[in-house]
Amino acid sequence: MNRSQNTELETRVESLLSQMTLEEKAAQMMQIPFSYVPREEALRWARLGAGSFLHVLGDDARELQQIALGTRLGIPVLFGIDAIHGHALNDHATVFPSQLAAACSWNPELVEQMGRVTAREVATDGLHWTFSPVLCLARDTRWGRVNETFGEDPYLTGELGAAIIRGYQGDRLDGEESITACAKHYIGYGEAVGGRDACDTEMTYRKLREVFLPPFKRAVEAGVATVMTAYGSIDGSPFTASEKSLKTILRDELGFDGFVVTDWDNVTSLVIRQFVAENMDEASLLAANAGNDMIMTTEAFYDSAIRLVRTGRMDERILDAAVRNILRIKFEMGLFERPEKRGKPGCFACAEHLEASLTLARESITLLKNDGVLPFGAGVRRIAVIGPNADDIRAQYGDWTYFTHPAANRRQEPVRPYTTVLEGIRAVAGEQGVAVSYSRGCGVLDSTADDLDGALEVARGCDAIVLVVGDVPEQAGETKDRADLALSGRQEALFERLKTLSIPIVTILVASKPLCVSHVVEGSSAFLAAFNGGMLGGQAVAEALFGRINPSGKLPISFPRHSGQIPVYYNQLPGWHGDKYVDLPQTPLFAFGEGLSYTSFAYSNLRLDADTRAVSVSLQNTGGQAGAETVQVYLRDRVSSVLTPVKRLVAFEKVWLAAGETRELVFSLTREDFSLVLPNERRVVEPGEFVIFVGGSSKDEDLLSGTIFVE
Ligand code: GLC
Repeated sequence: MNRSQNTELETRVESLLSQMTLEEKAAQMMQIPFSYVPREEALRWARLGAGSFLHVLGDDARELQQIALGTRLGIPVLFGIDAIHGHALNDHATVFPSQLAAACSWNPELVEQMGRVTAREVATDGLHWTFSPVLCLARDTRWGRVNETFGEDPYLTGELGAAIIRGYQGDRLDGEESITACAKHYIGYGEAVGGRDACDTEMTYRKLREVFLPPFKRAVEAGVATVMTAYGSIDGSPFTASEKSLKTILRDELGFDGFVVTDWDNVTSLVIRQFVAENMDEASLLAANAGNDMIMTTEAFYDSAIRLVRTGRMDERILDAAVRNILRIKFEMGLFERPEKRGKPGCFACAEHLEASLTLARESITLLKNDGVLPFGAGVRRIAVIGPNADDIRAQYGDWTYFTHPAANRRQEPVRPYTTVLEGIRAVAGEQGVAVSYSRGCGVLDSTADDLDGALEVARGCDAIVLVVGDVPEQAGETKDRADLALSGRQEALFERLKTLSIPIVTILVASKPLCVSHVVEGSSAFLAAFNGGMLGGQAVAEALFGRINPSGKLPISFPRHSGQIPVYYNQLPGWHGDKYVDLPQTPLFAFGEGLSYTSFAYSNLRLDADTRAVSVSLQNTGGQAGAETVQVYLRDRVSSVLTPVKRLVAFEKVWLAAGETRELVFSLTREDFSLVLPNERRVVEPGEFVIFVGGSSKDEDLLSGTIFVE
C-alpha cells in the first residue's frame, strides 16, 4: 500500500508538522557528517534539531539522540551509514562480499540474506538506515565504483536490488531488526563520460527510462523508503536540480513515497562544481524545488532555506513537503516510540552471520577457464601460493570498510575473524596433507618489496602455482577511476617469471572489478574471479580449488580485453563495420553471464508459447558431479522503430542438479519484457517477431533460440 494512504501515519505527520517553526523545518532537512565536523558543531546541530547524522556509530549516536529527544519537539534523529556489504565501517561487524561479487551468485535469496544480516548488525549498533543498494549500472569499467554495483545489466540489478531491500527493510520498517534502505544513486550515475566519477552522462531521458530506470522501478515496487540523488548531470542538467527526474518520473510515474536525500554536498556542487547557481541561496532554491527532501552535508542550506522563505523567494510549503516526507518515514520506522533500534545483541560476526557471508562468497566464485587442472587432485602434493593479493585482507575486503572509511578503527589494523586466500589454502591443503609455500612476489602499487626471484625459488619444484593478483583499495572507489586497467606494478612480470617454470598456474583475481588480464589468462591453466569476497572469501576460494565446492558463479559484468575497448557491455545497440578493431577483437575477454562448473550442462527442447509468453527448456547435468547452473533468458526485438539491444536479459533461474539429472524449466515473460521506450519517452510494445535466447551465458554459441510473434 502507498505510504501516504496510511491515514493514521498522515495524521501524526500533519499534527507534528503544524507545530514546527521555520527553523525546525529547515533543521529537519539537514544531514550532518558526524565524523567530519568538530564534535561541538555536531552537538550544536543536534540541539538545533538536525533531522539526521551520518557516519556515526552506536555510542556517539546515543549521545546525539538524547540531545535531540530533549529539544522542544523531541523529533528523533535518523542515523544513516554506508553498510553496503555488511556493517563494515564497524570493525567488529560481518563483512560480506561486495555487491559485484554477490551479483556473481545470481542468487536473490542469498543477497536478501546479506541484507537481513547487515540490517540486524546495523540495528544492533542502534542505527536506522543504510545507504544501500547501489542500483547504478557498471557499463564503463574505468569508473571507480564498479565494485559497489550489481554489474552492467538492468534486469539482474533490479532483481538483486529488490532482494537486498527486502532483506534490509523486512516486512515492516518498525521491526526490531529492520533498517531503512536507500536506492542510489538516482540516476544513471555510472554512465559518466570516460568513467570519470560525477561527470556529465551524455544520455537522453529516453535512454534513462529504457536502461537506468528499471532497477529503480523494482526498488520502488519493493517499498524502498529512501532514494539518493546522484552526483553528475543528465545531458547538461544536474540530477540535483532535475525536477523531471526527482518529481515527474520518480514520484508521479513510479509512485515513490519515501524521501529523497542528496548525495554528499550536492547542493554546494551546483555552485562550485557544476556552476549552475551563483550562490548558496540559488543552489538551495534549485535543490529544494527539484524535490530533494534531505540535504546531505551542506550546512549552508539551513540559513539559505530560512532566508529564502523569510524574503519570499521560496514558498514555505516546499519545506513542508520535504519535512512531511522525512517525518512519514520516521513515524513508519517507529522512531518516536523507539528512537534506538534493538537489533540482536551479541550478533556481530556470530556463527550464523559468518555462515551467511561464506555461503554467498562460495556462490560468488566464478570459474572462467579450466584446462582440467582444477579441482586439484591427488597428483598435487605441493602448491606455491604467490602474489600480492594472496594474503592482503584490505585488498580482499575492497571499499567501504573500516580500512577505507575509519569511523570505527582509526588504527586501521585488521580485526579477526577473516580468512585470506593463503590462509584458506593452508587450512584446506593441511587437511589433505598437501604442502603449501608462499611468496608475495611483488606489490600492486609499490615495487619496493618486489622479489620475483624469491617467488621463483618458492615455486620451483611445486606441482601447481596459485597466483593471486588484482587491485588494492587505493585503486577503487569514489574519485578513483582508472584509465588503464592492466595489472599494475610488476604483477604481469611476476607471472612471466613463473611461466618459465612450466608448472600449471591457477590465477585468482581478487579485485574490485574486471581488470585487463588477457595475457595472464592465456598463460594460465585456470582462472577464477573472486573480486572482493568478504570476511571468508579466502576460504571459499580454497574450497573451490580443492573441489569441496563446485563453482557456480556467472559474470554480472563483461571483462574488457583492453581499456581501449571500453565499453564492452553485452546489451549494446546493433551497429556494423565488422566485429573487430584493427588491433583487437570487439568481443570481451569474458562475457556477461559467463561462468564454468566442474560438471557440464546441456540445454535442449526450447519451446515458446506466444499466447502465454511462456518459455520452456530442458536442462541436464551431463557431468559427473552435482552443480548449479544459472539459466538465462534473453530477448531481442527483431524489428523496432528505435534501435533496441542485440539482446537483453529478461529472466533467469539458478538450479542445482545432481549428476545426470534433467530439469524442465518454464519462464513466464511479462508484456513489459517486450516493451521499448519511444523518442517521446512512452514505453510501448510494438507488435512483431521477438527472438528468445536461452542458455548459460550471453554468448551466442551458448544459447538456444526461437522466435515468437507478439501482438
Ligand atoms: C558518498 C557516496 C555515497 C555515500 C554518501 C555517504 O560520497 O557518493 O554513495 O552513501 O556519500 O557516505
